[in-house]
Amino acid sequence: MQKITLYTILGGFLIIAFSGCQSNAPKKIPSLKNLFKNDFKVGAAINERQLYGKEPGAVKLVQKQFNTISPENVLKWAPINPKPDSLNFGPADRYVKFGVKNHMWIIGHNLVWHKQVPQWIFQNKDGSLVDRQTLIKRMQQHIYREAGRYKGKIDGWDVVNEAINDKGKLRQSKWLKIIGKKYIPMAFKAAAKAAPKAELYYNDYDLYKPAKRKRVVQLVRNLQKKGIRIDGIGMQGHWSLKKPDLKQVQKSINAFSKLGVKVMISELDIKILNPGYFANKDSTTNNPDPYKNGLPDSVQTQLTNRYVSIFKLLYKNRNKISRVTFWGVNNGDSWLNYRPKKHTAYPLLFNRKNQPTPAFWGVVHAIKKMKRQNK
Ligand code: G3I
Repeated sequence: MQKITLYTILGGFLIIAFSGCQSNAPKKIPSLKNLFKNDFKVGAAINERQLYGKEPGAVKLVQKQFNTISPENVLKWAPINPKPDSLNFGPADRYVKFGVKNHMWIIGHNLVWHKQVPQWIFQNKDGSLVDRQTLIKRMQQHIYREAGRYKGKIDGWDVVNEAINDKGKLRQSKWLKIIGKKYIPMAFKAAAKAAPKAELYYNDYDLYKPAKRKRVVQLVRNLQKKGIRIDGIGMQGHWSLKKPDLKQVQKSINAFSKLGVKVMISELDIKILNPGYFANKDSTTNNPDPYKNGLPDSVQTQLTNRYVSIFKLLYKNRNKISRVTFWGVNNGDSWLNYRPKKHTAYPLLFNRKNQPTPAFWGVVHAIKKMKRQNK
């Protein structure tokens, strides 16, 4: 038999054998931080369990997939300073240390908010409402103490969170009622003094809504007119399968970017069950947790398509967007498992075993295709 023929047959066997083993080789999972390394940072909010080593799988996923982290709760005012004479920076220090050790772009969240803030700061010892000067001093002291503590370590602060209501007016929080609207510039001024190298952000939800968009533009312009530094706007991104219309998101990205500030998607997750489901007594009694055993293919496909559309939009706006942060690491971590009622949620790109979901692969394939086509 001709030697050539023999080699050809042998070679054919080797190729079949090799490709056979290949097909059993575990699929290499790309990292989101590498996929978007020339576009924007990609991160996740991490929780106290992960910081204290109770979720090693999730921590490994953070290290592999992300180059920025946000603190889900540990840097909020209430857990740090629950009472006038009690300060607990333990979990916050652990968060910052984790970020430094893993060379992450570290977000501080948040300095001034109407939620998870200890009520004692709005009160005198006798429980009566505190006066304007005292509250200003308490706010400034908190910002100097917390942002100052992590000077040179935290790279970007959510200085003021959710100060605008759904109608595009300033939220009637105790901050506004006691200090007045100047609490916002005061907070940014104090943060700039405490952490001169950190980027300073205004962070809020539903900023795709025209009324909120307009009011945020006004807020930023007011700060800029006063010469007070603001470096970016965090559009939280707590979205659902159908809402918002991505055209509205595009309009807000354009409007905010025109202000000369960075635009970030700071808390991305996708609700599958809309609020109406939980408001409907029949559905919640008949089926309080419809997806406890997993998502039907039809719903998974909707979720994958939604995430693909969102990331195509974000990729197209990569020159305006500096960061995209998921609000949680894996589906089991998400706050949405408890909101508005306890149920099994699937809002993120990694499942409860820290494995990529079909939505993750959908995003990866779609973006790789766009990159190949130089879109
Ligand atoms: O730490 C206490 C614990 O001691 C207690 O046993 C337990 C039971 O009541 O509560 C624990 O506090 C919970 C806290 O999360 C820490 O887990 C609070 O009840 C719970 O309300 C709080 O929820 C957080 C929520 O903000 C508070 O508004 C969510 O985890 C967090 O994901 C969510 O994050 C916010 C952003 O900061 C701002 N943008 C909206 C986003 C979603 O609401």
